[in-house]
Amino acid sequence: MLPFASCLPGSLLLWALLLLLLGAASPQDSEEPDSYTECTDGYEWDPDSQHCRDVNECLTIPEACKGEMKCINHYGGYLCLPRSAAVINDLHGEGPPPPVPPAQHPNPCPPGYEPDEQESCVDVDECAQVLHDCRPSQQCHNLPGSYQCTCPDGYRKIGPECVDIDECRYRYCQHRCVNLPGSFRCQCEPGFQLGPNNRSCVDVNECDMGAPCEQRCFNSYGTFLCRCHQGYELHRDGFSCSDIDECSYSTYLCQYRCVNEPGRFSCHCPQGYQLLATRLCQDIDECESGAHQCSEAQTCVNFYGGYRCVDTNRCVEPYVQVSDNRCLCPASNPLCREQPSSIVHRYMSITSERSVPADVFQIQATSVYPGAYNAFQIRAGNSQGDFYIRQINNVSAMLVLARPVTGPREYVLDLEMVTMNSLMSYRASSVLRLTVFVGAYTF
Ligand SMILES: *[C@@H]1O[C@H](CO)[C@@H](O)[C@H](O)[C@H]1NC(C)=O
Ligand SMILES: *[C@@H]1O[C@H](CO)[C@@H](O)[C@H](O)[C@H]1NC(C)=O
Repeated sequence: MLPFASCLPGSLLLWALLLLLLGAASPQDSEEPDSYTECTDGYEWDPDSQHCRDVNECLTIPEACKGEMKCINHYGGYLCLPRSAAVINDLHGEGPPPPVPPAQHPNPCPPGYEPDEQESCVDVDECAQVLHDCRPSQQCHNLPGSYQCTCPDGYRKIGPECVDIDECRYRYCQHRCVNLPGSFRCQCEPGFQLGPNNRSCVDVNECDMGAPCEQRCFNSYGTFLCRCHQGYELHRDGFSCSDIDECSYSTYLCQYRCVNEPGRFSCHCPQGYQLLATRLCQDIDECESGAHQCSEAQTCVNFYGGYRCVDTNRCVEPYVQVSDNRCLCPASNPLCREQPSSIVHRYMSITSERSVPADVFQIQATSVYPGAYNAFQIRAGNSQGDFYIRQINNVSAMLVLARPVTGPREYVLDLEMVTMNSLMSYRASSVLRLTVFVGAYTF
């Protein structure tokens, strides 16, 4: 406001009512301590006198007064008065510029203007003709009859110079700010990118942008995580997945054989077995399932890990067959006198490595005579002493496995039952021919 005050003569209140101001004074930047080239409306800066100089609006504004009004220039503005009005203004000798003596100045135009060929006044472009005194840091703007020195965007006036504004001081950026001459740029931390306003930072979904996860990718705020499918584990590099060898973790995963596969494992069973509940192996009963190859004349015998076809008629002379598994030596045949009167065929199967002693088969006398005593013994097939007989009572006994045996192996035991009745001097012998199949496995 200082230039205005310095230019305005003190006693112009008389004119104040008539003064037609061109507009309110332009708002001044309160941060700028020195508005040294800026004058209020109606004045312009005169670098020579270092003062604001009145603008002759009657010359610079086309049709400043309309109709029958005449234009009278005045400090800081102009007047439109009826043509007949008399003007009294020379109170202080600083009224409208007095006519310049033509001898001294051939230029009939006001400052900032010059005559063209048609003798009309045209604006001088002080910026183009280097008639200005703007600093190198400033920009020159030509104005009608004048010019203006301003600071470029991003600069502001401090003293006589334009200096870069450090926009980073004003926290324009969410993450990081880089000040540049005349401007600034925001930057984001890794994992973020500039938002549409170029100032805030938004999370980058690295998973959508080719994050190097081998299997699964999870975006998270500012970063991402790689994960692996079930059965894989994340490599130390954080990206790749390697198969977990489940089989190496435990020997109990599978009863028989564990096979590692990509991302999983599976249990396998030996031939003759089927998988039961993912890890156990169960003997296939080929005789039940019909998978056997036995003929009509044969009987199918299942055992752990396989089956056997045996001739239904297994009786050898002098024995004769009396039923599917029973051979009888007729008492009428002299050859039968020293032989057990009957041979019954039975089959059973045990697994390998059974803990011993183990009861494996109970023998029961089928016919009980009152007062008779039945003695049981292993007559054949037990040369290694792998079995023994434990008598339970007069009519029954238990075959006991004495030593752990490993299959595949096969025993044919003749278990003899001798029936005695001392009162009647009666003695009879019968044989149970028991085939014991020992499977190859413990299951
Ligand atoms: C953000 O910056 C880009 C590149 O510099 C520009 O094209 C865009 O107009 C800017 N957006 C805003 C909102 O400033
Ligand atoms: C078992 O044999 C004994 C000795 O011969 C005899 O005394 C007993 O009565 C028999 N018991 C039975 C139930 O037959």
